[in-house]
Amino acid sequence: MLVEKNVALQPYNTFGIVARAHTLVRMAQEADVQAVLADPLLGHQPKFVLGGGSNIVLTGDVRPVVLKVEIKGKRLVGETAKDWIIEAGAGENWHDLVTWTLHNGYPGLENLALIPGTVGASPVQNIGAYGVELQDRFESLDAIDLTTGQAFTLNAAQCAFGYRDSVFKHASKPGEASGAQALGLADKALITRVRFALPKAWKPVLGYADIEKKMLQSNIHRPDALQIYEWICDIRRAKLPDPQVIGNAGSFFKNPTVSAEQCADIIQREPKIVHYQLANGTVKLAAGWLIDACGWKGKSVGNAGVYEKQALVLVNRNGATGGEVMTLARAIQTSVYERFGIRLEPEPVVV
Ligand code: EPU
Repeated sequence: MLVEKNVALQPYNTFGIVARAHTLVRMAQEADVQAVLADPLLGHQPKFVLGGGSNIVLTGDVRPVVLKVEIKGKRLVGETAKDWIIEAGAGENWHDLVTWTLHNGYPGLENLALIPGTVGASPVQNIGAYGVELQDRFESLDAIDLTTGQAFTLNAAQCAFGYRDSVFKHASKPGEASGAQALGLADKALITRVRFALPKAWKPVLGYADIEKKMLQSNIHRPDALQIYEWICDIRRAKLPDPQVIGNAGSFFKNPTVSAEQCADIIQREPKIVHYQLANGTVKLAAGWLIDACGWKGKSVGNAGVYEKQALVLVNRNGATGGEVMTLARAIQTSVYERFGIRLEPEPVVV
């Protein structure tokens, strides 16, 4: 086991924030995790699991032992009457997996193309885009308990998926009776492999305005999965900054949900507000619109800024610190709250 000291984390977080790990160990296979846990020096120290670093804001050096997940592998592991079951190592790049599944004849992940990050991080925040969420294609995952070293498997229900949410984002709540929320796994588990159920009877998921526009422009009305993949890549490249060029962590806030009454009240004051009715009667508001309406698009605080083409994305203009990003985020939260009475909740994990 190679234990690296004082490691620069800038290349390992998509915001490109400068910070260091006091101790970093690379996990290329399950046995590496067991080795760290059995180590007399490292075993009992707090741990921090790092995937592709696409959903974190580093506000300083990381003192817990960084376990950098690099477990690889992509393969068909089984099938059911309805689905192909594909398994991928947690350290695989997410977009590479999407591309691989399409090139090997297993469509279903095309709407999730070009999302930065790794396979292991995808269930943590239940990544979603253009009408598909990870949970729609999820079969099960393997993980290792970071306290006991025991391997375990979770199905979708046990992952307690929600909008940009799962059991891996919640701390455990001792004393609570039972149920997924009581079993919070934040900082308690390292995901090693994820399995996806990709439908044999594939159907396109269209219906998003940006995709409809592509259909009209191209005059292709029955796109195949590869065509949708290409459109999604085009749409994302036009709207979202490439982390290789401008540091960012995708959408910085979740789209808030309000009751139908609250929404009706806001519409009276703000008739142009972008909103979507949800099946359960509540209404989702476009956080990007709220931030844009407060005049934030293109603005900066120090070296942290609001992306010119999508106000929901905060960017690192040049050497921003995590502190600058969070100061900007709080200023945005305050102005959205003052104007709309809505509290925006950050999506990335602040470290
Ligand atoms: N809008 C504005 N101004 C802006 C940004 C957006 O008016 O500066 C309006 C747009 O005109 C549009 C609406 O807000 O009517 C929604 O914008 P968009 O279609 O870009 O989607 P979003 O709600 O901002 C969500 C996800 C994205 C995902 C897209 C497409 C969240 C937090 N974000 O963004 O996910 O790619 O939908 O499905 O749910 C991510 O999580 O990192 C991410 C990029």
